[in-house]
Amino acid sequence: MSKVLIIGAGGVGNVVAHKCAAVPDVFSEIMLASRTKAKCDRIAAAIGADRIRSAQVDADNVSETVALIESFRPALVINVALPYQDLSIMDACLQTGVHYLDTANYEPRDQAKFEYSWQWAYRERFREAGITALLGCGFDPGVTGVFTAYAQKHHFDEIHYLDIVDCNAGDHGKAFATNFNPEINIREITQKGRYWEKGKWIEVDPLSVHQPVEYPRIGARESYLLYHEELESLVENIPHLKRARFWMTFGQEYITHLRVLQNVGMTSIEPIEYQGQDIIPLQFLKALLPEPSALAEDYHGETSIGCQIRGLQNGQPKTYYIYNNCDHAEAFREVGAQAVAYTTGVPAMIGAMLLLTGEWQGSGVFNVEEFNPDPFMEHLNRYGLPWHEVVNGPLAFTD
Ligand SMILES: NC(=O)c1ccc[n+]([C@@H]2O[C@H](COP(=O)([O-])OP(=O)(O)OC[C@H]3O[C@@H](n4cnc5c(N)ncnc54)[C@H](OP(=O)(O)O)[C@@H]3O)[C@@H](O)[C@H]2O)c1
Repeated sequence: MSKVLIIGAGGVGNVVAHKCAAVPDVFSEIMLASRTKAKCDRIAAAIGADRIRSAQVDADNVSETVALIESFRPALVINVALPYQDLSIMDACLQTGVHYLDTANYEPRDQAKFEYSWQWAYRERFREAGITALLGCGFDPGVTGVFTAYAQKHHFDEIHYLDIVDCNAGDHGKAFATNFNPEINIREITQKGRYWEKGKWIEVDPLSVHQPVEYPRIGARESYLLYHEELESLVENIPHLKRARFWMTFGQEYITHLRVLQNVGMTSIEPIEYQGQDIIPLQFLKALLPEPSALAEDYHGETSIGCQIRGLQNGQPKTYYIYNNCDHAEAFREVGAQAVAYTTGVPAMIGAMLLLTGEWQGSGVFNVEEFNPDPFMEHLNRYGLPWHEVVNGPLAFTD
C-alpha cells in the first residue's frame, strides 16, 4: 500500500491515473498534479474523486515540486509531464528521498537532442540517497527494452541483430496531428536518423532510409529508420549486439505535411520576432495542432510495436519476433485514451507497481532492461497489453 504522485495530466497522465486507480492494493492514495489543475480535475472526476486528489505544480520549479512532495509524502513520483522536466523532478526526488520513474529521457528546451547522459549523471547521487530512478518506462522506450531483456533471458545466448518496429495503423480522421505531445514528437522525427552497428553510431538524413515491414493483423507498411532513445541504453546493456535499429511507420500524408512545415520553418526551435514578441515556431505550431488526447474519441485501427531479433541459441541461429497490438477504440472504451497514450501509460503503471512492491529494486538510476523482465511481462498480459511471440519465423530484415 503506497502513495504515488503523478506529474503531468496529458494523454499519458490520464492513462497512468486510470490504471493506478484500478489497483488500490498497490496504489492506495494517488495525487495527480500538473501545470493546469483543471486538467487534473477532469481526469479525477472521470475516475472518481474519492480515488484521486489533484494539485497544481510547475515542475520546472524544484522547490514547488519539493513542497508538493513534502505535503503529500508519496513513495514514488511518476513523471509523465515533458522531457524538459526530468532533471528538475529528479532533483526534487533527491531532496525528498522519493523514488522516480519517467517515460522519456531528458532533453534541453533549446537543443533538439535527447540522450541519457544528463540523467545517467545522477547515478551516484541516487545510489547514495538509497532511492531508485527508473528511466524510459513507457512502450518505446520501455516495453521494447523489457522485450529485449526477456528475449536475452529466455531465447538467446547471444543477440546479434535487434530491429524495433513501431507501427501506428490507426486513423484519427485529421489531415495532420501527432499522437503524443506535438513539440516533442516533431523534434524527434525531424532529427537525423541514427543506428548502431559494429560498435559505432551511423547517422543518416532524416527519414531517408525506409522499407516496407509486415505488421501482424495490419499488413505491410512503409517503415522509416529513426533514432530512438532506447537504442542508447540497449547497446550498453545487451552484450554481443552487432546492430540495433529503430523503425517507425508514417503515412504519405503525414510526411508531406511535415515536409511543408519544415520547408516554411514552422518546425524550427529558434526564436523569431513577431509583432515585437519572440516566438518559437514549433511551439506556435503546437498551439495550432489538436491535443493528442483529443484524437481519442474517433480513433480506430491498431498499433503494433515489437522487437525483431536474430542471434544464437545453443550455437544455432534463431529468429524471434515479440510484439503487442493495441486497438485505439478499445483503449478509448476502457480509459478514454488513444492507443499511443495507452501503450505508454500502462507500462508506466506496471513499472511503478514493481518498484513499490519491491519486485524491482536497487539504489541508483536504471533503464528497464537492467531488471528481471518476467514480472513485467506477466503484468503486461494482465493489465491490457498482451504480447505474442513468433519463434524462428521470417523477419522483415534478413541482411
Ligand atoms: N516511452 C513512450 O513510449 C512514450 C510515448 C509517448 C509519449 N511519451 C512521453 O510521455 C510524456 C507525456 O506525453 P503526453 O502525450 O501525455 O503529453 P501532453 O499531452 O502534452 O501532456 C503533458 C502534460 O505535462 C504537463 N506539463 C508540461 N510542463 C509542465 C510543467 N512545467 N509542470 C507541470 N506539468 C507540466 C502539461 O501541462 P499543460 O496541460 O498545462 O500543458 C500536460 O498536462 C512525454 O514526456 C512524452 O515524451 C513516451
